[in-house]
Amino acid sequence: MDFQGIREEIKSRIDIVDVISDYVGLKKSGARFKGLCPFHAEKTPSFVVSPEKQVFYCFGCGSGGDIITFVMKEEGISYNEAIRKLSERAGIKLEPVHKQNIQEREVLLQIHKAAAAFFRGHLRKSEKALKYLHARGITKESIEKFSIGAAPEGWDGLLRHLRKEGFQDRYLRVSGVVLFKENNSFDFHRDRIMFPILNSSGDIVAFGGRAMDNVEPKYLNSPETLIFQKKRILFGLNAAKEGITGAKYINIVEGYIDVVMCHQYGFTNTVAPLGTALTDDHTKSLKRFAKEAVVIFDGDDAGIRAAKRAMPVILKSGLVARALLLPGKSDPDSFLRQRGAGDFKGLIADASSYVEFMLKTGGYGVDNLREIYETLASMEDTMLRANLVDELSKKAKISESMFREKIKEWQAKPTRSTRIVKPRVKMLDEEILLGIYLSVPALAGMFTALKEMELLENEFIKRIFDALFNGGVSPTIDGLSMICTEDEIAYISGLMVNPNVEKENIEKNVEDCIKNLRKKWVDKKIFELNKKIEKAYSANNREELALLNQENIKYTNEKRSMS
Ligand code: CTP
Ligand code: MN
Repeated sequence: MDFQGIREEIKSRIDIVDVISDYVGLKKSGARFKGLCPFHAEKTPSFVVSPEKQVFYCFGCGSGGDIITFVMKEEGISYNEAIRKLSERAGIKLEPVHKQNIQEREVLLQIHKAAAAFFRGHLRKSEKALKYLHARGITKESIEKFSIGAAPEGWDGLLRHLRKEGFQDRYLRVSGVVLFKENNSFDFHRDRIMFPILNSSGDIVAFGGRAMDNVEPKYLNSPETLIFQKKRILFGLNAAKEGITGAKYINIVEGYIDVVMCHQYGFTNTVAPLGTALTDDHTKSLKRFAKEAVVIFDGDDAGIRAAKRAMPVILKSGLVARALLLPGKSDPDSFLRQRGAGDFKGLIADASSYVEFMLKTGGYGVDNLREIYETLASMEDTMLRANLVDELSKKAKISESMFREKIKEWQAKPTRSTRIVKPRVKMLDEEILLGIYLSVPALAGMFTALKEMELLENEFIKRIFDALFNGGVSPTIDGLSMICTEDEIAYISGLMVNPNVEKENIEKNVEDCIKNLRKKWVDKKIFELNKKIEKAYSANNREELALLNQENIKYTNEKRSMS
């Protein structure tokens, strides 16, 4: 059974409503079920589950997908873990799958595994790379622990190696480790120290590459792919799990080398985002391992700003947040090498609470207090918030009741950090058509007009219809999951359950939408023709003019008949 087969089998055996009911209180409402969204805070339910379409969608925050997406998101686990978990629940035995028909995701993981082995092999041979790591004080043990490697200098050493290993170009093309240009193709990373980036199940999904000379960019991360989304992954988390459980808190630093050096000096509870700001996805995965996170940034203005941005994200997730700024120009790597583990430990012990940090760096002015209020108001954990309110009222010497009033006031208004995506009420014709096509297979025959013409304008929807009509992709979430990212699947799930898709007379709805698209297309045609006619006219090209005019009459007549 291939991966699409397994997804279908899971869904034929277990119902999405049963699974989601384990996590969310659902109430029947017409043909679907409604409840409070588990992925954002809300008081009135905007989370719907459709048993008939086997999808869920939140009209508040835009989360959506099928049973597999739900379990991944809710439990913070990988795609493979979710498949394993649900297969077990459904009583399906997973067989080892073969290289050819294995699902794309699996092949991409294998490519990354092979690439990492290739980079490790090259590091052993590369004097330059070994010398660089030595100069930076990175030990053999650290190289092993983080599976550090090196990309060779040539253009396509990795590409040739992967082809020799039997990986097909169609997978290499979307893997992110090789770049395919029109006439030639080459390795994405060349002549760099390579840090494998792991997902939460410990699979390598991308690489961070550091230049060894003064080459720009200093760091180069793999592009995002089906298996790699930057905003979800923390560098070092896999290696840090044990350390975090032991220390009961997490250190968040900025860089790859900072993580490696922290671990090397005994701070094995350290992770870093991949050169981006901390996101809700990051904190959600951290929350499974500890209750507290300490952000450790450089002591300059950029470091202060980064800490001010990161702490509210941590607090919002229900983790305690603390921050420390390193003296001068140092980062964790340089600090540890200059001052040692003892001093670093001391700094962590003295790290500031959120309130302390904000008051220390921003003072008692109205704007700063307001920023603190905003953050406190966005917190869902009331105990945690109460502690900070208490601290703030003591430190700022203002009555607690006044703070509580203020917080209520701020809570009533959506703040920057809690603002959510409002679903558009008015859908594009193309969106309605895709929603119906996926929801009501019986109407597929009505869509032939889309196959022949360039009626679609929206690039994403065009790509999807093209895959459905010409790419052999089946018109289900399972089929589309083979070619879409999670965010795209969420969006598509939203289209499927949107009320616009379920209007009374669904056939008429399809007819109207196609007619609207056709109208727009005819208008475009006429517009283009007129431009050509003008040109032919000034060039005095009569033959051409006659042809164009004929065509113009045809479309103008069609336009008239449509309105
Ligand atoms: N980063 C990146 N792309 C860049 C520069 C930085 O993705 N062009 C990310 C990397 O994750 C890097 C982190 O931001 O580790 C911090 O960058 P920076 O402070 O510039 O570098 P250091 O981590 O101090 O790197 P090094 O010590 O190797 O100079
Ligand atoms: Mn550094």
